[in-house]
Amino acid sequence: MKEHRIGIIMNGVTGRMGTNQHLLRSIAEIIRQGGVKIGAGETIIPDPVLVGRDIDKLEKLKSISGIQKITTDLDSVLNDKSYSVYFDAQVTGRRADAVRRAVDLGKHIYCEKPVATDTATALELYELCKSKGVKHGVVQDKLWLPGILKLKRLIQQGFFGKILSVRGEFGYWVFEGDSIAAQRPSWNYRKEDDGGIIVDMLCHWRYVLDNVFGKVQSVSCLGATHIPERVNENGKRYSATADDAAYATFQLENGIIAQFNSSWTVRVRRDDLLTLQVDGTKGSAVAGLRECYIQHYGNTPKPVWNPDIAQPINFLEGWAKVPEQETYDNAFKAQWELFLKHVVKGDPFPWDMLEGAKGVQLAEKGIESWQKRAWVDIPEL
Ligand SMILES: NC(=O)c1ccc[n+]([C@@H]2O[C@H](COP(=O)([O-])OP(=O)(O)OC[C@H]3O[C@@H](n4cnc5c(N)ncnc54)[C@H](O)[C@@H]3O)[C@@H](O)[C@H]2O)c1
Repeated sequence: MKEHRIGIIMNGVTGRMGTNQHLLRSIAEIIRQGGVKIGAGETIIPDPVLVGRDIDKLEKLKSISGIQKITTDLDSVLNDKSYSVYFDAQVTGRRADAVRRAVDLGKHIYCEKPVATDTATALELYELCKSKGVKHGVVQDKLWLPGILKLKRLIQQGFFGKILSVRGEFGYWVFEGDSIAAQRPSWNYRKEDDGGIIVDMLCHWRYVLDNVFGKVQSVSCLGATHIPERVNENGKRYSATADDAAYATFQLENGIIAQFNSSWTVRVRRDDLLTLQVDGTKGSAVAGLRECYIQHYGNTPKPVWNPDIAQPINFLEGWAKVPEQETYDNAFKAQWELFLKHVVKGDPFPWDMLEGAKGVQLAEKGIESWQKRAWVDIPEL
């Protein structure tokens, strides 16, 4: 049995994403399952150290995750050769500096999106990784959601005929914090702390569109701050200076039109927190995070507009649920396993810092479109 132990510095792991998705559901789970199998009798075993500012939070994480190594001293582990990977899930604005330091010390990089707060910095990080010859990757978790994987299969099978349009509806009500506590961190609602839903969500829509439907060529985006004041983690009222909703349209290289509403100020009456409706000449599908429903040309109802009578068609009944034809792992864990194989075996890993920079670029262009009240083209990076 050959074991590849791989030292991973996990920074920002006391945060929401760091704790739940990356530590508990990915790295701790990979360790629990006995590592990542890469061949007969060969496995990769992650050897993480948890980094944060608050030792009490780290102690708590240690007890719930079973991971023994914790530190508040990032430099000490960056300078330790037994760690070859630096992972970052800190607040966005802190990422670039930490990644630069880690690359300079020869670490491979894996990090959350957005990789940086502007495209120039994101590209600089990509060039730095390339010039130092380290491996690099960016979290693009939505690509491994069962709902999206089912859509990809349908596309592979030619189910849609020619795809005409994609409609994404993302969002839910994020409580303001005055009566019921907010379920997202308050920095998300402050521009000065790199918050805002355009920056947050357009990076996701970039890789979903580019990888599943076609390359994004232009964007029209209108942002809004619907709720101007919220209450933070300490019960203090603050001005919500960042956009909390974005109404965007994208044109793709193959003529597909994609519209995405992203909002923290809507209430959900749809299948899931994210739904993607794909309409094609031969059929349509609506995917949520896990499930996907399809309607073929052959069972497309033929409605006739008549508001004077009760609707005779039950539209929801005309859709069939795609069965579980494959097994699906946690999306973050699935990508972590691929990244670890990329580091150890050199397996392909196309979701790199350049792809991360493209996400930042789309967010930046979305904001530019909003400011100019105009369509903005997306130049190739
Ligand atoms: N892939 C996804 O679906 C997804 C979803 C949500 C957030 N994110 C990204 O993950 C990152 C973290 O988001 P989150 O929601 O977990 O935020 P969070 O506020 O819960 O966590 C932020 C982390 O950064 C650390 N941090 C904050 N200020 C710091 C400072 N001054 N010095 C050192 N550390 C500091 C915190 O201690 C914490 O560990 C963001 O970049 C966000 O865009 C990704």
